[in-house]
Amino acid sequence: MTTRYRVEYALKSHRRDQLGLLAVPFVLHSQPTAIFNEESAKLAEVARATHQRYAEIMRDVEQLVNDHSKLIPLMGLIRRSKLRLVTFDGDVTLYEDGCCLLDGSPVIPRLIRLLQQGKKVGIVTAAGYTDASKYYGRLKGLLDAVSSHPGLTDEQKNGLVVLGGESNFLFRYNQSSPDLLTYVERSEWMLDEMRLWRDEDITELLDVAEASLRECVSNLNLPAAVLRKERAVGIYPLDGHKMHREQLEETVLVVQSMVEKSEVGRRLPFCAFNGGNDVFVDIGDKSWGVRACQRYFGGIDPSMTLHVGDQFLSAGANDFKARLACTTAWIASPTETVQLLDELAELEGRN
Ligand code: IMP
Ligand code: MG
Repeated sequence: MTTRYRVEYALKSHRRDQLGLLAVPFVLHSQPTAIFNEESAKLAEVARATHQRYAEIMRDVEQLVNDHSKLIPLMGLIRRSKLRLVTFDGDVTLYEDGCCLLDGSPVIPRLIRLLQQGKKVGIVTAAGYTDASKYYGRLKGLLDAVSSHPGLTDEQKNGLVVLGGESNFLFRYNQSSPDLLTYVERSEWMLDEMRLWRDEDITELLDVAEASLRECVSNLNLPAAVLRKERAVGIYPLDGHKMHREQLEETVLVVQSMVEKSEVGRRLPFCAFNGGNDVFVDIGDKSWGVRACQRYFGGIDPSMTLHVGDQFLSAGANDFKARLACTTAWIASPTETVQLLDELAELEGRN
């Protein structure tokens, strides 16, 4: 089970760099002090073997860097192709967990700059609502700023969409709607494979997930209520309670494995994740969400797309799946999102 220390340590910036993982082979080959008193010939042999191993590791690192330099986020994206679509997660990425994007947030002028440059912006969030007013409430600062911005053309403003429930509900910017967003019918943006997602399967998958969530609430004695939605089911804490990280993660692992083992779980993509103080199972995942944005904007190539999010640990994290659809950037707070967008603008300015 992952402790708070391990998770927080894993989020330190050097750990989020895959090269940080290379510390492991060095530690594995370091010799225990037990050989300290061995005779010198043996010591020399150990030293030679260790030296050779380290050389091999460094050669592997070199190959790794050569092979994957194109995958290094941002620089490769800007140097080798043109960035046309940037998608953002909501909670923790654009605003603090459970909060809203309010007027005055430093993220807002950066998002507007992307639109002004003619780039498309998608907010690909797990938060799943069928009602535009709910998204207006969460994104008010941004939507109002776009609406009243004197320098943005209509075409640039229409470059903003919100895709909620990971890949389930699409809203486009609409200057004349009171919520500044309009629901877009699924038939207008669905990917071909999504047409195979039958309503009966969706209900069945959510039934399996719900039963499993209820079992976790009872077995782990969680102070939580179950929330069933059109395309998701989740648990959230009862008023005045908080769940422990270990309880949330255990629940994700149990539910994920129960759904995976079910027949319907093999037919339909889903995403089970720990939202910080809740656990949700959504139909589809962010790889579908990002791909749907690419398609909606006329078929933007994965190499021209960047997804920015905070959830990239491989178990129980929902931004992770976006890696199947584009380059990704892992941030840990809205402040880091601002830094990232400034870095991006600077790199593009140099090219
Ligand atoms: P994200 O970080 O923008 O992906 O938002 C994740 C959070 O949205 C979750 O932790 C939940 O608190 C909230 N949420 C609201 N509705 C849903 C839903 O239908 N599915 C998943 N998460 C939801
Ligand atoms: Mg998030």
